[in-house]
Amino acid sequence: MSDLSYLFNPKAVAVIGASAAPQKIGYAIVNNLIKSGYKGKIHPINPKEKEILGLPCLPAIGKVETPVDLAVISVPARFCVPVLKECGEAGVKGAIIITAGFKEVGVEGLKLERELQAVGKKYNMRLVGPNCVGLMDTHTPLNASFATGFPEKGNISFISQSGAMVIAILDWSFQAGLGFSRFISLGNKSDLNESDFIESCAADPNTKVILVYAEDVSDGEKFIRICTKASKVKPIVILKSGTSTAGAQAASSHTGALAGSNLAYDTAFRQSGVLRTDDMSDLFNLGRAFSTQPLPQGNRVAIITNSGGPAIIATDAIEKSGLTMARFEKETIDQLRENLPAESNIYNPIDVLGDARVDRFRLALEKAYEDENVDSVIVIFSPTAVSEPEKIAETILEFKKKYTTKPVFAVYMGGKTLEKGKSILVKDNVPTFTFPESAVKALEGMARYADFRRANDTPPALPLPKVDSNIVKATFYDVIKDKRVLLMGYESSKVLDAYGIPVNHTYLATTAEEACQISQKIGYPVVLKIASPRIAHKTDVGGVEIGLHNRREVEKAYNRIRERVGRYMPEAPIYGIEVSKMIDEGVEVIIGMSRDIQFGPMIAFGLGGIYVNLLKDVSFRLASALNNRKAIEEMIAETKAYTLLKGYRGQKSADMDTLIDAIYRTARLVQDFDEITEMDINPLRVHTRGATGLDVKITIGQPD
Ligand code: COA
Repeated sequence: MSDLSYLFNPKAVAVIGASAAPQKIGYAIVNNLIKSGYKGKIHPINPKEKEILGLPCLPAIGKVETPVDLAVISVPARFCVPVLKECGEAGVKGAIIITAGFKEVGVEGLKLERELQAVGKKYNMRLVGPNCVGLMDTHTPLNASFATGFPEKGNISFISQSGAMVIAILDWSFQAGLGFSRFISLGNKSDLNESDFIESCAADPNTKVILVYAEDVSDGEKFIRICTKASKVKPIVILKSGTSTAGAQAASSHTGALAGSNLAYDTAFRQSGVLRTDDMSDLFNLGRAFSTQPLPQGNRVAIITNSGGPAIIATDAIEKSGLTMARFEKETIDQLRENLPAESNIYNPIDVLGDARVDRFRLALEKAYEDENVDSVIVIFSPTAVSEPEKIAETILEFKKKYTTKPVFAVYMGGKTLEKGKSILVKDNVPTFTFPESAVKALEGMARYADFRRANDTPPALPLPKVDSNIVKATFYDVIKDKRVLLMGYESSKVLDAYGIPVNHTYLATTAEEACQISQKIGYPVVLKIASPRIAHKTDVGGVEIGLHNRREVEKAYNRIRERVGRYMPEAPIYGIEVSKMIDEGVEVIIGMSRDIQFGPMIAFGLGGIYVNLLKDVSFRLASALNNRKAIEEMIAETKAYTLLKGYRGQKSADMDTLIDAIYRTARLVQDFDEITEMDINPLRVHTRGATGLDVKITIGQPD
C-alpha cells in the first residue's frame, strides 16, 4: 500500500501560481490553507510577488530551503510540466494539479497529461488531478483546495470524480450538519485514482465511512482488490453515474446482450462489498447513517409511530427490502397492552396514537429496545396539536445513548413545526428524515453491509482443473488464420472438450457418406447443422435437421440442407455439415461470458434455450470470483433455473456437481484466454447424471 500521508498531513505545502489577486484561484488556495488552521509551513511561489497574504513569497520552488511534501499547482496548463519538473527536482513528494486543459480538452491536452505522468514517475512523485479542486483533511487540518469554506470536522471521507460535486456538497454540508474527515477531488486521475484514495481512507483513523462519486473506475482489477479488503474494515458507498447500455447493444451473444457495463459495475461492487446508490440523497443518507450509528446485528426492525398511514408505508418499504418487521416477544406485547390505550396497535408497528405525548413514546421505545427480537428502531412522528416533538426527540436521544448497539432512525414528517425537534436529533447524531422510505433505504444499506461483514472469509479455492490449453491455442490459431472471429461448432466443441466442459461432440462431414459414417459411430438419433462462417442463424436458412434415426434419413437430410442453403445463400462459403448426437433430456441452462472493459470476463448463468433474453433469468459474477464452490452455488441459487434443477414437481434433481464444475471450468477458460470476447453455451442440458453443452458460440478477437 502506498502511504499518502504527505498529501493529507504534509509538513510543508508550496502553492505554485499563488497570487495576490483575490479573484484568482492561486489566492484562494493560499487563503484556504491559512484559514483551515494548517500548522505546517506554507510557501507561496510566484516570480512577481514578495509577499502574499502576509507570507513571504519565493520566485520558484527550488528557492525553498526546507523540504516541501506537497505542492499545489495553479499555473496555466502550458507551464505545468516545467513547474512539475521543478517540484521533482526540489524533492516534493506529492502534487495537486488544479489546472484544467488536459485530456478533457482533446488530443493536445492528453499529450500534455502524459508528460505530467512521465515527470511524476521520474521523480517518484504522486499526482492528484489535473483538473481538480484539491483536497482537504479536517483533522490535520488542511485545506489544499480552492473550494469555498472548510467542512465541519467529522468522520466521513468523500471522494469525487466531479469537482463541481465537491464544491456543491461542501456548501450543502453546512446546513445539513454533516461532518467530514476528508474531501478529495480526483480530477482526471492521471496518477492517483479512486482506489488509491479508498485504500488511504480505509487506513485513516479519523474516517468511519467512505463515500465516492464516480463516473468510471480506472483499473477494475485494482479496484476489486482494494475494495474487497477495505470494505471488511469500513463501509464504502459509491454513486456511480453514467449507466450506459451501449456495450450491451453492441454485443452479439445472449450473455453480452444481457450484460453491459452497468451490470459489470453492479457485479464488481457487490463482489467487493461496496454499496451502490443511484442518487445523491441516498449516498449522503447512508453516509450519515454509517457515521453515526452502530451496525445493526440483524435485519429485524421495530417501528414506533403516532400515525397509521406513514407506518404502513414504512412497513411496505421494509417488506420490499432485505429487512424484516421484528416479531415482538410475548412479554413486550403484554406490557404494551397493559400500558397503552386499548386502541393502540401493540404489534409491530407500535402505534401510540395521534394524541400521544412523550410518555407513550418513552414506553414504546423502552419495550422495543429491550426486546431481543429487535435489531433496530425507526420512530415515525407526525405533528398533532398535542404532540411534543422536542421532548420526543430528547427521549429518542436518551435511548440512543443507553442502547448503543441498536441503530435508531427518526422520521419527522412535517415542516416548520418540526424544525426544532429535527435539529435536536441531527445535532446528536440521529439520522432524521422527512419520509419513511428514505429511512428504510438507509437502514437496509446498513443491514446489507452488516451481513457482508458477518459473512465468513472467502471459502477455500477449488483445485486448478486439468486442462489442455495447447488444443485451445491451436484452434484459435486456425480461426485467426482463416480471418474469422466466430468459431464453428466443431471448433467450439474442441475448445470445451480441452477444458473438460461437458459438450456434445460435433464432427464435420464434407460428404453425405461421411455424415452417415459419423452418425453410425456416435449413435442415432443425430442432428445435422450447416457449417459456414457466414451463417450465424442456421435455422433461418434451413440449415438444421434434427431427429435423424438412420443412415437413409441422414443422407437425405444432408442433401436437403446443401440444396436449401445453396438456394438461400449461394455466396456463403460452406465448410461442410456438422454432425452431433441428438440430446433432448435434462434441464436447459445457459453458461455464458461477456468481457467487460474494466472488470474483465463476467460469467452468466440461468435458464437456457431460445427464451434467454425474454426470461432474463440470469445471474452474473466476475469470472475471478468463481474460484470456489460456495460462490458458484450462490450464483446458481439466485435463478429460477435452480428450482428446476432441484427437481420441480416430482422430477429427479439434476447433477449439480457436474454443473458447478462446468461453470468453474468455463470461468477458468475465459480467464486463461483473453482473446475470447464472448461465449455462450446455450443450452447446456443438465441431466440427472452428467451434462451436455449442445450449442456453443465462442467469439474471439482478431489480433491487430
Ligand atoms: N511559477 C509560479 N507562478 C507562476 C508561474 C510559475 N512558473 N507561471 C505563472 N505564475 C503565476 C502568474 O504570474 C499568476 O500570478 P499573478 O496573479 O501574480 O499574475 C499566477 O501564477 C496564475 O497564473 P495566471 O496566468 O494568472 O493564471 P490564472 O490564475 O488566470 O489561471 C488556472 C490559472 C490554473 C486557475 C487556470 O489555468 C485553470 O486551469 N483554471 C481552471 C481550473 C479548474 O477549473 N480546475 C478544475 C476544477 S474541477
